[in-house]
Amino acid sequence: MKPELTLHGRTLTLQRYPVRQNETLQAWDAADEYLINTLEASTQPLDPARPIVILNDSFGALSCWFAPHGNVTCVTDSFIAKQATLANLQDNQLPAVNVIDALADLPANPQLVLIKLPKNNRLLTWQLHQLCQALPADCTVIAAAKAKDIHTSTLKLFEKHLGETKTSLAVKKARLIFCQPNPALAKPLPQPLQWTVPEHGISLLNHANVFSGESLDIGARLLLEHIPVRTDLHDIVDLGCGNGVIGIKAAKLNPQANVLCVDESFMAVASCLHNAQANLDNPAQLRAVANNCLDDMPAHSADLVLCNPPFHQQNTITDHIAWQMFCDAKQTLRPKGQLVVIGNRHLGYGDKLKRLFGNVTVIAQNNKFVIYQSDK
Ligand SMILES: C[S@@+](CC[C@H](N)C(=O)[O-])C[C@H]1O[C@@H](n2cnc3c(N)ncnc32)[C@H](O)[C@@H]1O
Repeated sequence: MKPELTLHGRTLTLQRYPVRQNETLQAWDAADEYLINTLEASTQPLDPARPIVILNDSFGALSCWFAPHGNVTCVTDSFIAKQATLANLQDNQLPAVNVIDALADLPANPQLVLIKLPKNNRLLTWQLHQLCQALPADCTVIAAAKAKDIHTSTLKLFEKHLGETKTSLAVKKARLIFCQPNPALAKPLPQPLQWTVPEHGISLLNHANVFSGESLDIGARLLLEHIPVRTDLHDIVDLGCGNGVIGIKAAKLNPQANVLCVDESFMAVASCLHNAQANLDNPAQLRAVANNCLDDMPAHSADLVLCNPPFHQQNTITDHIAWQMFCDAKQTLRPKGQLVVIGNRHLGYGDKLKRLFGNVTVIAQNNKFVIYQSDK
């Protein structure tokens, strides 16, 4: 895959994160190109004194393109997108961009907001509320996505929560949404969803972009029944923690252990920290951090890794993250440590774990899910 994006006589070298040998996926898409082409063709000059805000940039293509403007803020819920953006800015020797996480306040008085449509409508709705509170009426707002991901219901969300909305024709299967902010529509931000798992005595708050934020994931429900309980467990990791339900249950069952929860979503980490405060007698027992899998975790520092892995990255279905999680878990486990993984039956994680650890046992299963254990 060629990492060069060439448009309007400018070339950027753009990589996904983490950089992989023989990468087959590009770090930008046709929607990024459509946005760039539309703005390059515009006759409206940009005001250097007013910010440009970019939401949900996948791997930093838009941030890199607009960085020379000098007053760019990139808003993301993804640790991976943040790392990709910072690395691509540096590789292309571009001016700094202010990269903030999705729960942070937006800069005042932006002139232009570019949005890559998130997959999750709860996040989109939350972001439209946030934009409507912050944007002046003269701000230009353009969103972009694959045409097949822009539905009438998507346009209705823009109309309802931000302002008058139009769409473009499709180009290379991408479409744009143009929206004129109407500050009179501004409303308070939607509250994070909160619900309980009564059989485990856990209550969970879920910020807008948290995985399975509206109800307990059915895989997680099965895993909750099979978390190891042992007095010799000192360090437990919940890898891909979401709202922290697995890590919190592990901390309750093993009060002597320290639990580290890791997710690449900043909203997941914030939800998990809130949930540890609300559910644990000793909230200091649990730490939560944003990371790409277990990057830079010391080797031999965990006795147990619990993992309900993701099977897509942004809009792409992939098992490379699950594989990286298994490899990182093996690195991080102490000798005789255990990795416990839940997966949809058809994903075939058992073969991967056998290949990596040399052993795998099935510790529970139902008609949809299997829980595997591999020992280091
Ligand atoms: C299937 S969900 C499991 C969430 C939670 N543990 C549960 O059982 O409900 C997978 C989680 O992995 C996170 N994730 C995806 N890619 C990741 C990565 N590279 N590093 C860390 N976490 C990642 C996602 O944000 C998501 O919260």
